[in-house]
Amino acid sequence: MNKPQRTQVGIIGSGPAGLLLAQLLSRHGIDSVIVERQSRAHVEARIRAGVLEQGTVALLREAGVSQRMEREGLVHEGITLAFAGRRERIDLRKLTGGSTVMIYGQTELTRDLINARLAANGAIHFESPALVVEDYLSEQPRIVYEQNGQQQELHCDFVAGCDGYHGVARQSVSADKLQVFEKLYPFGWLGILADVPPVDHELIYANHERGFALCSMRSPTRSRYYVQCALDDKVENWSDDAFWNELRRRLPAESAAQLISGPRLEMSIAPLRSFVAEPMRVGRLFLAGDAAHIVPPTGAKGLNLAGSDVFYLSRALIAYYGEGRTDLLDRYSATALRRVWKAIRFSWWLTSLMHKFDDDPINHRLQVAELDYVTGSVAGSTALAENYVGLPFEKFE
Ligand code: APR
Ligand code: PHB
Repeated sequence: MNKPQRTQVGIIGSGPAGLLLAQLLSRHGIDSVIVERQSRAHVEARIRAGVLEQGTVALLREAGVSQRMEREGLVHEGITLAFAGRRERIDLRKLTGGSTVMIYGQTELTRDLINARLAANGAIHFESPALVVEDYLSEQPRIVYEQNGQQQELHCDFVAGCDGYHGVARQSVSADKLQVFEKLYPFGWLGILADVPPVDHELIYANHERGFALCSMRSPTRSRYYVQCALDDKVENWSDDAFWNELRRRLPAESAAQLISGPRLEMSIAPLRSFVAEPMRVGRLFLAGDAAHIVPPTGAKGLNLAGSDVFYLSRALIAYYGEGRTDLLDRYSATALRRVWKAIRFSWWLTSLMHKFDDDPINHRLQVAELDYVTGSVAGSTALAENYVGLPFEKFE
């Protein structure tokens, strides 16, 4: 083993959470080192969602990595809910007093963050899996990781576990110190990415007797569509035509007629899960993003929750190094979790409203009645809109 490396903040994972945290810290002269299990190419090739809340967009601007997003991202002022053959638009901007969302792929965002990091000579050890976090209850936590087949150590003041649901950071914490909450949904999402123009200029969330469907996009020429599928379904079971035909069946006639199909660039199945680990801080180990919580993708909250965790954690670390304050570090977990649970609730509610859980016809009628209420009531649609654009960050200073 080589001589241990030293840094102020050791970050495990170069996904959006780890990269954005490192970027915000570096703007305040705080040193960090990122260790990442996968190669750069692998991390940059991941296909993930792409709806950014107002707060996330503002954080990317503050981090100085918003140029390409501002140029190529699409500002959306509304979404459409489709049910019972109807299309009902939710005017996000009007209902929230001006808030909108930004359509910009997480893949592109991750590339922008990696480019900014490397352009500033920030350290990212790719293909260097962390094995365990040691001594996180002491003042000198260590990340033990592997590089070129050799075990290495990174000594730090603080460790940020941004290594996702399957990472080692949370697993390094003994079970008696963590409480976990989990809900698995009895279905998955089959997604396709294709270079075809989107069926609509805004996203369409469709409730249908055959199951949920979502029409999303990455650009005016690249579309992303999803249909609800069985958990044990396989991509091999689906030809492109089978996918497009099933999607058409689940959309109102007007949209189905406008849908342009084409060959897949990518097709994959994702399970749906709600998960929270509490607390998000144990000693000098701080969890952020998917390492601490998972939401079903229905509300597009995954990336945005990673953003809000990083909003709070970056401010806490900046206050510590800048003013020697520890109060924000002590308030990080409770503050971040308050916003996490609201997003978990919203994502669970929208998933319950839009998906097919069983064949009991009364359940679908209840969903249609609730959609009829929500889309026909200012109060109902405002509640949806304000959660969708993103609830405000708490004052944290
Ligand atoms: N050592 C080093 N890196 C690791 C390890 C490990 N032991 N385990 C996982 N990683 C890396 C993964 O390879 C990945 O690049 O940690 C990173 C975690 O990134 P994400 O999974 O993207 O999680 P996060 O940054 O929290 O972003 C959350 O990602 O999955 C989406 O929907 C989710 O949009 C949300 C966003
Ligand atoms: C996506 O574009 O991939 C997407 C959009 C909205 C969601 C989930 C995924 O709710």
